[in-house]
Amino acid sequence: MELVEVMRITGAVREFTDEAVSDEEVHRILDVARFAPSGGNRQGWRVIHVQDAALRRSLRDLYLRGWYDYLAQGAAGLVPWSAIADRDAERAAIAGASTIAEQAAAGPGGFAEHLDRVPVLLVVLADLRTLAAVDRDFDRYTLVGGASIYPFVWNVLLAGRDAGLGGVITTILTREERAVQELLGIPDECALAAVVALGHPQRQPTRLRRAAVTEFTTVDRFDGSPFGAPA
Ligand SMILES: Cc1cc2nc3c(=O)[nH]c(=O)nc-3n(C[C@H](O)[C@H](O)[C@H](O)COP(=O)(O)O)c2cc1C
Repeated sequence: MELVEVMRITGAVREFTDEAVSDEEVHRILDVARFAPSGGNRQGWRVIHVQDAALRRSLRDLYLRGWYDYLAQGAAGLVPWSAIADRDAERAAIAGASTIAEQAAAGPGGFAEHLDRVPVLLVVLADLRTLAAVDRDFDRYTLVGGASIYPFVWNVLLAGRDAGLGGVITTILTREERAVQELLGIPDECALAAVVALGHPQRQPTRLRRAAVTEFTTVDRFDGSPFGAPA
């Protein structure tokens, strides 16, 4: 598949067939993904391919805690855990999470409730000792460290898409980082960057909704004119 096509159609996939993904396929995907860039080429990612059923169920249960908090914030019109947020509004919203959890428990469940059954679950860690976090000492929320890890995570999805698989980056489990560290024997210096779900998709997305270039690109200044395609 053409690189540009893969980039344009690799959307989030959360529904999978029962078809297994072999270790060979997972290895091939990681073997491609490892060519991602990172600050100083330090390649601080670590991956745990979680296969054990009991561990997967524990991860699902931990995921659900954050997931219902996420839904509750969304339902209140908030950007969940936004880096700049009204913390009181956030707390008030999260207070409603148990109702959402009860409603979900009464239903068939979706991706989150069945996370343990996703064909491939890759826990991606960031070895904090390797990250050139140039905004580390800023007063604002720090961002740059993750940039040494997420290109790798995205490469996993691109390589998966090229292999006919689908998947999604998830970060909700980072809410429960300490518990995940204990569960999987992860040392303190490794942060939980993402959990990637992969599998054979029930449906492959082909048309993604994304903003046009003019909506996020300006010339010369933040308030400059929109940068559009040359006539
Ligand atoms: C940094 C990041 C974190 C995400 N976390 C989650 C998550 O925890 N759970 C989830 O279901 N999807 C998660 N997603 C998937 C996004 O919801 C998805 O990429 C976005 O809505 C676009 O969806 P689309 O590709 O179907 O258009 C995450 C995506 C990114 C890039």
